[in-house]
Amino acid sequence: MNRYRPIGLYDSGIGGLTVVREVFAQLPAENVVYFGDTARVPYGCRQPSELISFNREIMTFMMQQGVKLVLVACNTSCAVALGALRAEFPIPIIGLIDAGAQTAVEAGRRIGVIATEATIKSRAHERAIHQIAPDREVLGLACPTLVPLVESGRWQGKEAFETVYEAIHPLINLKLDALIFGCTHFPHLVPIVSEILGPQVRLIDPARQAVSNVRRYLSMNRLANVGEPKGENRFYVSGEPAPFQFLANHLFAGTVGRVESIALPFPNVSSIA
Ligand code: DGL
Repeated sequence: MNRYRPIGLYDSGIGGLTVVREVFAQLPAENVVYFGDTARVPYGCRQPSELISFNREIMTFMMQQGVKLVLVACNTSCAVALGALRAEFPIPIIGLIDAGAQTAVEAGRRIGVIATEATIKSRAHERAIHQIAPDREVLGLACPTLVPLVESGRWQGKEAFETVYEAIHPLINLKLDALIFGCTHFPHLVPIVSEILGPQVRLIDPARQAVSNVRRYLSMNRLANVGEPKGENRFYVSGEPAPFQFLANHLFAGTVGRVESIALPFPNVSSIA
């Protein structure tokens, strides 16, 4: 496997860019291929069978792009599809749920999780946390209104505050030690969540630990891109490229070049779904 190949990341939309941001920070020499399934966002209200089928299509696309490793930048996908993908695709696949659990167990006993309906229903975070520390109390809350809010780019202001407050107010006064952002869209809302819950709740974005897991894997397997000049990052979406490009450039200070649109169904992968 060639260490100069890119890392693949994907999500239903712009949420996974919070994970790309962490890749840029921790692994600046690596090239990235990103896919946002913006024609089919949100994922959180879908059934596991449908999500597994979307994930298979995207993984096939990633294989066609020649990636050396995939970091699944979508908790919903990790919660319902990671096992199936690992069994089917001959490539390292790293997820976010274990990474979030790893960080959260160190933060205290009462751990909150905000995520999509599908992720909360799967209880994937609870299982991952209890595997490491069975005595932790895990309180999951589905927040379906936050993904459309983030996709619309309204990450600040009165409307954003009110929507986030409405979604997470059941967590106020629960004496949480930590809160896992169990959906990659939500770290775009960190300042508002922090204002609502206060400084005593440690906010955990699993992306940091997940990318650190990727870094360890790459270096242990001699797959890290060392000594080669950085190439181009490539961004693809299944919907309209313009809104994605605008928000991605806002996040990455204008460094995102062209965003290409891929019309669904994916070319050459329909037989797999
Ligand atoms: N950002 C994704 C996640 O981490 C999916 C959100 C959605 O499309 O509902 O779960």
